[in-house]
Amino acid sequence: MKAIILAGGTGSRLYPLTIVTGKQLLPVYDKPMIYYPLSTLMLAGTRDIRIVTTWDDLQKYQELLGNGSGFGVSLSYAIQEEPHGIAEAFLLSEDFARNEACALILGDNIFYGSGLSGMLLRAAQNAENGEATVFGYYVNDPERFGVMEFDDDWNVLSVEEKPVHPKSNYCITGLYFYPKDVTEKAKNILPSQRGELEITSINEWYLQEKRLKAQILGRGFSWRDAGTPDSLLEAGKFVQMIEKQQGVLISAPEEIAFRKGWISRETLLAAADKYGNSSYGQHLRKVADGSLRY
Ligand code: G1P
Repeated sequence: MKAIILAGGTGSRLYPLTIVTGKQLLPVYDKPMIYYPLSTLMLAGTRDIRIVTTWDDLQKYQELLGNGSGFGVSLSYAIQEEPHGIAEAFLLSEDFARNEACALILGDNIFYGSGLSGMLLRAAQNAENGEATVFGYYVNDPERFGVMEFDDDWNVLSVEEKPVHPKSNYCITGLYFYPKDVTEKAKNILPSQRGELEITSINEWYLQEKRLKAQILGRGFSWRDAGTPDSLLEAGKFVQMIEKQQGVLISAPEEIAFRKGWISRETLLAAADKYGNSSYGQHLRKVADGSLRY
């Protein structure tokens, strides 16, 4: 199973914040935004991860994340010169994901909630078995997103990109698990009216083939994209609230890697040293010495 983090785009909705740096490098409270989607993919058990980014940011990501060995994963990079839609990530990663089941997460999407790991692992398994999974979240403003409609048994009836008259309040979040034919499908979709290769077109195709599953993230979950000044600040405040309440950090990729047995205690401690006396470094030290048991 492969996985892609889409960390390209101009981030223009965040200008001037993103004039000299990519959106997914901005801080969400105490860590760079990309740590959150990276953590989500690692919780899904994926260890072969491609980061799609821009020429301007490539070096920064390489400096921050390297080849992934510090996180117990293998990281490679591809360049998206200009944003032509989310589904383009598969075309830019053809060398990497062709004929492989592949997950995709948008670099500004932050998922948090009890039971998430189990859902992610199941979605990855389903993708290996030929079924796509998308994650639905109830929102007030569905017209801003991809939207799905359900029958009484929560089977998906339709998917639409930014509909003027949404058929439900369930938005399709920016995390997708696809079977091994996804790259072929991406090659065969047409740009939408706004000129983008829409991920919704791929979802529609799986729906027509009766191979699209929806996993609802219920009221106990928090999902957000951090792509506007308000949602970026809210995401930071949310992470701060969760972390302060229990005094425990969330979405620390090195911790996930250590708990999964992907990195040794020595590698974890080396990472902690790199982060010095910051709260992140201290957290990793607590994980390493076993004083954080939950
Ligand atoms: C994109 C997708 C949309 C999805 C959303 C989630 O929207 O096109 O289907 O619901 O991400 O963040 P965009 O960020 O391009 O507006």
